[in-house]
Formats: sequence, C-alpha cells, structure tokens
Amino acid sequence: MSFHQGVGRAHAKIILIGEHAVVYGHPGIALPFFPLGVVATITESNHDEMISDFYQGPLIKAPTHLLFLQTLVQTLRSTLNLNPISIHIKNQIPPAGGMGSSAAISSAIVAACYDYAKQPLDDQKRFDLTQLAEKIVHGSASGIDALTTSHDHAWYFIKNKPPVIVDLKVPGFLVVANSGIRGQTKDAVSQVAQLFTKNLAQAHLESIGLMGLLMKEAIERKEIDDMARLMNQAQFHLHALGVSHPVLDQMVNEALSMGALGAKLTGGGLGGCMIALTDQLASAQKIQQFFSKTYSPNVWMMDLT
Ligand code: PMV
Repeated sequence: MSFHQGVGRAHAKIILIGEHAVVYGHPGIALPFFPLGVVATITESNHDEMISDFYQGPLIKAPTHLLFLQTLVQTLRSTLNLNPISIHIKNQIPPAGGMGSSAAISSAIVAACYDYAKQPLDDQKRFDLTQLAEKIVHGSASGIDALTTSHDHAWYFIKNKPPVIVDLKVPGFLVVANSGIRGQTKDAVSQVAQLFTKNLAQAHLESIGLMGLLMKEAIERKEIDDMARLMNQAQFHLHALGVSHPVLDQMVNEALSMGALGAKLTGGGLGGCMIALTDQLASAQKIQQFFSKTYSPNVWMMDLT
C-alpha cells in the first residue's frame, strides 16, 4: 500500500467593518490576514482522529465544542467515499480571537480532504462545506469568515449574494491587537438576536450596514480619514449592541490617543481582537509596542500602502 496524504491551507481574516450586521443581510468588508495560517494534513488511519494543539485523540471522543469538526469530517468522508482518516492540524490563529479560526480550520480540512481524495474542489463547494461547519459553531454564520479565510483578497460581502473583490490599497497602517480576553462569537450573536426580537438592534445594525457601503466607497477613493471615521462610528454601534468589552473599549481609546484615526473591535466581540487604523507608520509602531507590553503579545501591523 502506498503512503499518501492530502494537504489544505487557509488563513485568518480581519473584519474591517460590518460584523454582526452581515448576519442580518447588511454589507461588510473583510480582508485576509496572511501572517496567521492553518495547515491541515490528512493521512490514512484505522479510525477518525485529530492531532492538534486543541485536541488529540479519536474524533468520536472530541469535546462538544468540536462537534462542528466531527460533522464536517463525517460529511467529507461520505461525500468523498473515504476510509477513516487522521487529521493533523497546525494552527497559528488564536482561538476566540475574532480572526476566523474555526472557519479557517474547517476550510483547511475541506481542502485537505479533497486533495487526499484527488477530487477537484471549486470555490462554491469549499464555501458550502465550510459554512456547514460554521453553522454548527454558531447557528447564524453569515459566511464572511468562510469566504475570507479561503481566499487571498479582501471582500465586500452581503449574505447570499455574490461577493465583490475589494482592492484594499490605501495610504495607511492597520494594527491588529488581541485583548487577551477570549472572544465569544456564539454568545455575542445570540445576544444581538435577543435585542433584535425586541426591536432594539435594528437601527444599530442598519447604521453599521450603511457604514459598510460607505467604507467601500472610501476605500475606492483611498480616503483614510473617512475610513477611520466609519470605523469609529461602527464601534459606537457595536458598543451599543453590547458586544464590546471594557478592555476593548479601553484599547480603542488608547489607540486613538496614540495617533490612530479610527479603532474598533473586530469579529464577534465580547473579547478577542481590536483593530486601529493610522496614516503614520510611527504611530502604528507606537500602538503596536504599547499593546504588546500591556495586553497580549499577539499584536500585528499591516502595511496597506
Ligand atoms: O468572531 P468571528 O471571527 O467568528 O467573527 C464573527 C463575525 C460575525 O459577524 C459576528 C458573525 C458572522 O457569522 O458573520
């Protein structure tokens, strides 16, 4: 019997604007974050198993928060007619950081299984299978994570519509900083859903959606000041929806006082990461250094120029 393996890759994502609003059909913009990736490697085994930093052992005994991976692997095995597999995951994306770690892991596994089965995988199939898993992670997954963790460009995204590529080349620098508090996407999404049933979320979500549209236009005009202002306004509405966190609020204020033009949480919230936009490399570096000393070593800077 010849040894063979399948390999699949995906990466982190950053939501520039539109988290939570995208769940309700409003526009959002997300970009790939290449410094943090996932590699999934599939080999033959006598039972389905996973070897990773977050779980080692038979898939059948995985904790309930990994049910999305059990379901995904069962689906992939039956679709591709595979015998039991061993899944080795190398993941650099902080879990619960609002950077799309669950979608990236699922997407890498999908690609690895198709590679292992030597079957062609088109974008739609990859998206649908990743979404199957994401919907188990939190029932209302919009699809923005499944899309952005699998592609190499930024997207203007509206749920259930064809996404549009965004050329995110602007004269600015984006600092991405982990608060060190675990984000809680599922809880945040259901909290917003509860407000929605009481008609308390609609106005905020619509405002964030409008900002997604205006952000696309600001990016096209390369107007960094407008982009930053929209980020600040989005943060105001995310805070009003209750999905920020005192530490994220503090980081936003600190980033603004150190020269950022705009700052907001990114991803599901209640913890996880914040992003800050500057027009000066020096202020981005200052913020980066301060946050890495004060909160968490997980701080990165993206040159968008
Ligand atoms: O926390 P993350 O990285 O899973 O991002 C969630 C983004 C939301 O808009 C809150 C949910 C979604 O599915 O779009």
